Amino acid sequence: MDLHFAQAEATAAERSVIDLFMEGQPSANGLTEETRLERPRSRELRELLLPGLHALQSGIGWISHGALNHLCEALSVPPADAYGVASFYSMLALSEQAPDVLHVCDDIVCRSNGAMELIDECERVFGPEGTGQAVGWHRSPCLGRCDRAPAVFVQRTGTDDFDHGPVHADLSGRPLDGLAELARMNLELGIDRSTTPQGPAEVRLLRRIVQGVDPASLESYRSNGGYAALEQALAIGPATIRALIAASGLTGRGGAGFPTGRKWDMAAAEPAPRYVVANADESEPGTFKDRLLIEGDPFALIESLTIAALAVGASKGFVYLRGEYPLARQRLAAALVSARSAGLLGDGILGSGTSFDIELRVGAGAYICGEETALFNSIEGYRGEPRNKPPYPTQAGLFGRPTVVNNVETLLNVPIIITGGPEAYRELGTDLSTGTKVFAISGHVGVPGVYEVPFGTTLQDLLALAGGMRNGSSLRSVLLGGAAGTFIGREALEMPLANERAAEYGASLGSGAVVVFDSATDMADIVARIAAFFRDESCGQCAPCRIGTVRQEELLVRARAGFDAAPLIREVGQAMTDASICGLGQTAANAVRSAIDLGLIRGGV
Ligand code: SF4
Ligand code: FES
Repeated sequence: MDLHFAQAEATAAERSVIDLFMEGQPSANGLTEETRLERPRSRELRELLLPGLHALQSGIGWISHGALNHLCEALSVPPADAYGVASFYSMLALSEQAPDVLHVCDDIVCRSNGAMELIDECERVFGPEGTGQAVGWHRSPCLGRCDRAPAVFVQRTGTDDFDHGPVHADLSGRPLDGLAELARMNLELGIDRSTTPQGPAEVRLLRRIVQGVDPASLESYRSNGGYAALEQALAIGPATIRALIAASGLTGRGGAGFPTGRKWDMAAAEPAPRYVVANADESEPGTFKDRLLIEGDPFALIESLTIAALAVGASKGFVYLRGEYPLARQRLAAALVSARSAGLLGDGILGSGTSFDIELRVGAGAYICGEETALFNSIEGYRGEPRNKPPYPTQAGLFGRPTVVNNVETLLNVPIIITGGPEAYRELGTDLSTGTKVFAISGHVGVPGVYEVPFGTTLQDLLALAGGMRNGSSLRSVLLGGAAGTFIGREALEMPLANERAAEYGASLGSGAVVVFDSATDMADIVARIAAFFRDESCGQCAPCRIGTVRQEELLVRARAGFDAAPLIREVGQAMTDASICGLGQTAANAVRSAIDLGLIRGGV
């Protein structure tokens, strides 16, 4: 093995963190030998790399060369390789930093809701970005808390991370303890539920959340309809489950809109072992629905993924959760423990012959890991770089095995279809976009939050549900589908929100982000931030995206100075769309192009 260890030694504290981490494997995940699929030992060790790096980051506050060497020895991973992985993620620090670090969102929603003032305050109180003795701070891309902008995520050494918003607080004094206290009080007061301002009228996926069912209680979940679908699924068997899902017309809610039933059939036709994965790495600027769905109804995700596993014949599943979602992580981890002790995960689920367990994997701040093959690499302990397709995940996915990856929201539709039947499911929505869609609405609306409406509801009606324009301001544009989506203008307000109808407007619903900008917004600034986002988040693996995202941003700067950049921007955008390996590069020009088309940005463009 190509192991080359530098001279650096781990400190006693670093050794103790790593040794403790290794002792907890695999029992720390609560997995029994039977539920761990056979993999070579070297692969099992390699896949512990990201969790091990997380353990160091949260225990020590950064990852020194000595600590990395010690972890590499324990996992038999070449240090240079591990360094490549550690340096891939923005939540992992490879140089000493303050024990507490604020990640201050300056992305598209927060920057027009006070983030820039908050950044000035951070600079005043803590000093320049990236420095600081006790508290450091960094600008951050969207933290998935756009409903409560401006938002911060606080990484703390030796104690729990937390996120909070809106943060308009005076950061002098003992700022982090104060912010942590505020975040805790908000939870206790139930203010986190203000992110689902909708009533119980027509909601399906949000029902338990708007009714206030306790997300920590398995009993509450079960007495509110939970696990009825799994019981039914066990009785009807895999083929019938897949037939019901196909008949419902359910399509993926993560952005691609692929028919779920077809995906499950494709995986089930491949040889075992197979895996199921819930993609909870929602990082699209403007998107925060999955965070809320997991925080508010964690058992629903566990039940849904268990049914998916039963349907395709998988005995092991993963939830890959965004690293900046500490509350979702805590609640989901607790729910997994409860489900296991109640016999709802593990061997012989509900007394059946079915065995299945779920491992929670936490990302570390890389947007690209939401791409399904990048997500596989991340779980396997490699840099989160997308793979070429084909082969498709249903043929050769996680650990090279057939794998079904579904978005969280997609999965949460499954129990509803099983218990209610596909005909009832299709009663809402359109012929081609069946059921309901959960939208995350943010920006200059009266009541930002997560709203569930039948597909086909018009954009105008959705905005009315969110309280219309804030303080009677007038609408400039809506960014539909997040940074990878498109800007649309007032003339598109009549658009029915269904995948096939959005296409008629040159738009797509994406994962359901709806960011609203009023007429006072500096749109050139917003578009520039989107371009900077893609430049930062490109994994750099393929030239059209690695170079194109940089050129696109540069051209926007020149355009603001009066240069006629539109032709070149379009050319660069086309090259990225045509020749990039994955969806990031293929969509990185969408918002910029649509902003030009709508006349939202000027100065030569
Ligand atoms: S398109 Fe961008 S993010 Fe995707 S593989 Fe290429 S460089 Fe990486
Ligand atoms: S949390 Fe700031 S833009 Fe989403």
